[in-house]
Amino acid sequence: IKNIETPYYYTDKLTAEKLIKPRDKFSHKGTFGHALLMAGSYGKMGAAVLSGKACLRSGVGLLTMHIPACGYDIIQISLPEAMTITDQDAKNLSEVTELESYSAIGIGPGVGKESATVNAVEILLEKLNLTAAKAKLIIDADALNILSENRHLLEKLPQNTVLTPHPKEFQRLAGESNDEFERLQIGIDFAKRHKVIICLKGANTAVILPNGEVHFNSTGNPGMATGGTGDVLTGILTSLLAQKYDPVQAAILAVFQHGLAGDRAAEEKGESALIASDVVEGLGW
Ligand code: APR
Ligand code: MG
Repeated sequence: IKNIETPYYYTDKLTAEKLIKPRDKFSHKGTFGHALLMAGSYGKMGAAVLSGKACLRSGVGLLTMHIPACGYDIIQISLPEAMTITDQDAKNLSEVTELESYSAIGIGPGVGKESATVNAVEILLEKLNLTAAKAKLIIDADALNILSENRHLLEKLPQNTVLTPHPKEFQRLAGESNDEFERLQIGIDFAKRHKVIICLKGANTAVILPNGEVHFNSTGNPGMATGGTGDVLTGILTSLLAQKYDPVQAAILAVFQHGLAGDRAAEEKGESALIASDVVEGLGW
C-alpha cells in the first residue's frame, strides 16, 4: 500500500535492554505488583499453566490464577507459587471477581467461547470501566475472538489495552487484507481508532501503538510456531504490566524477551524439538 505515513521502528537488543527496570535492593513483593490471569477451560488447562509460569518467570510480585473448577488441582500442583480463584463453573470461566487488588489482568489463554465466558468478558470490561480499578488489561486468544463476535465490546476497551492476536485472530478482529502491508495499515487504523496496543504476532511481531507507530521485533524463530508459545507471551505481558511498566514499553519489551527466550530454547533443543515450556525456561533477564 502506498503512502503509509507512519514511523517504523526496530526493537534490537540495545533498545530492549534500555527498557528494563532494575530491581531496587530494598524492594519487596508488593513493589512488583499483583497479576490476575483468567485462563483455561476443560481440556485447555495447559494454556493457563504456560501463561502462569511465564508470568512468574517475568518478575511479578504475586500471581492469582482465576480458573474453572476443573483446573484447581492442575494449577495448585503445577504452579505452587500462584494463588487460585476457582470459578463456580466446572469447565469454563463464567464470573469476574473483585478487581481492586490487581495491577494487571490478562484474559484469554485456553478460555474457549462458551456463552458464560462471553458474559464474563463483558462483565470484566464493564467493571474495569466503572470501578476506580486501574488494572491494565491484556486480551488474547479466544477472548479476542469473543470481541470479534460481539463487536459492541470493542467500545468498552480501556485505553491502552494490549491485544495479542495471531494473524487469524487479527483478521476476525479487524478485517481481511490482501497482503501484509494492507494488514499493517488496517492494524494501525484499528489501534488509533480504539486507542489500543496491538501485538500482531508472527515472525518479526509488529507492536502497533495508538499513535500509529509500529515497532518490529528482532527476536524469535520458526521453532516457536508450536502450540502454547502465544500463551507464554500473554504471561510475560501480564507480568510486566503488573509491575507498572508503561503499556507501550511493556508490549515492546515483552515481545522482545519472548522471542529471546525462544532463541535460547532453540539453541539448546533445536527448532523442531522446541515446545512452549522450553520458551518459559528460556526466560530471564
Ligand atoms: N518466527 C518467530 N516467532 C514466531 C514464528 C516464527 N516463524 N511463528 C510463531 N511465532 C511466535 C509468534 O510471534 C507468537 O508470539 O509464536 C507465538 C505463537 O502464538 P499463537 O499463534 O497465539 O499460538 P498459540 O496461542 O500458542 O497457539 C495455541 O491459541 O491463539 C490460539 O488459535 C490459537 O489454537 C491456537 C492456540
Ligand atoms: Mg494464541
